[in-house]
Amino acid sequence: MQKLIIKGKKELTGKISISGSKNSTLPILAASILADQVRLKNIPLVKDIFTMVELLNYIGLKTKIIKKKNIIEIKNKKKNISTLAPYKLVKTMRAGVLVLGSLLTKYGKAKVSLPGGCAIGSRPVDLHLYALKKLGAKIKIKDGYILAEAKNGLKGTIINFPSISVGATENALLAASRARGKTILKNCAVEPEIKDLIIFLKKLGSSIYMKGRTITILQNKINNTKITHEVIFDRIELGTYMIASALLAKNKIEIDKINPKINKRKKDVLRKIGIQKKKKKSSIIIKRNKKLKKITISTEPYPGFPTDLQAQLMVLLTQAYGVSKIREDIFENRFMHVPELKRMGAQIEIKNKTAFINGPTKLTGAEVMATDLRASVSLVLAGLIAENRTIINRIYHLDRGYEFLERKLKNCKAEIKRI
Ligand code: UD1
Repeated sequence: MQKLIIKGKKELTGKISISGSKNSTLPILAASILADQVRLKNIPLVKDIFTMVELLNYIGLKTKIIKKKNIIEIKNKKKNISTLAPYKLVKTMRAGVLVLGSLLTKYGKAKVSLPGGCAIGSRPVDLHLYALKKLGAKIKIKDGYILAEAKNGLKGTIINFPSISVGATENALLAASRARGKTILKNCAVEPEIKDLIIFLKKLGSSIYMKGRTITILQNKINNTKITHEVIFDRIELGTYMIASALLAKNKIEIDKINPKINKRKKDVLRKIGIQKKKKKSSIIIKRNKKLKKITISTEPYPGFPTDLQAQLMVLLTQAYGVSKIREDIFENRFMHVPELKRMGAQIEIKNKTAFINGPTKLTGAEVMATDLRASVSLVLAGLIAENRTIINRIYHLDRGYEFLERKLKNCKAEIKRI
């Protein structure tokens, strides 16, 4: 099993280029089932993307990854494709469940494995199924599989989500993009990745309008099914490296290949902590005041603070003065990095859904274990600021979502290696 070894306390300097968004590429790959031919640019070469491509191959699409250019080409010309998404592919990558909406709306049926829980929580798919049923699908659960059918196609309707879900909004969008008549989705997730999916579906011929958390999908004319699309940058990767810069860079890192206009947050959390940003057209430089300030914050759906940056923010707050509070309101079990950070010297207490971080504390290297994607990268950040050597086990989680992590950090003079 591979490990990462980090020798901490090295000042970072250089340039980091942000990769394409994993969470944007995954639903767009699922949407590619609806097209004849797709060329996707700026895709990140990470494990979750390879798993999704494997799933598309299994279904019967032809895919070609041009690694040097971060491009995937997809062809869907076969008449008889499989409408099955097997357990072995969906269990390792929950976004596999997104093929449900595309398969059902195009082929009238789908059999997709239930993704099951994962380390950060139970993660049900009831909201996905609620939306598909409203669109007229007949759904049964049998032997761990979702069996969905819409023999006469799906029919547009009004769907009011009882709570906000990124995946359910995406599945509903995919399904509604070929439904008859008008669909109105209310209380939707509005993450930039959802907007990217909408841009892709529009290229496919759908008429889609978004106002606040309401998305309207009109009767669709599927005409142009040969599409080129460039995926947006990964805002979570950007946030991760912004925090790394704030911890270790002293204004000497430029983070580029981004579009600052895409990522409009409700609150500028980093600024509240004492970190300033110098934004350029497609890059950003982080400046840090000497003394970081404590903060109280909750994770929320976009444009609130993302749960996917909670673990990384916590590492930053171990260096802020006073007791900071982070409430995790999206997933029930997303503080698994806390015991590992405590082993490195962090002073953190958890009460119910809130972590209390007492800072600033000196971190020291230890052997730690990664438990999920974002928890893993928080341990990398902790290792970068810790005294001595940190060894991170189970780093396959990192490979699911961070493209060239060691290479990007090494280029900025970090001492990090994989063994
Ligand atoms: C997506 C992201 C993930 C991010 C999360 C929240 C992808 C591939 N993954 O995951 O990185 O952490 O959004 O921003 O884009 N829920 C239900 N029933 C459902 C669906 C969700 O109760 O049918 C709950 C979940 O358990 C969770 C909350 O809703 O508590 C939000 O989950 P959701 O937005 O659906 O997350 P994902 O789409 O799985």
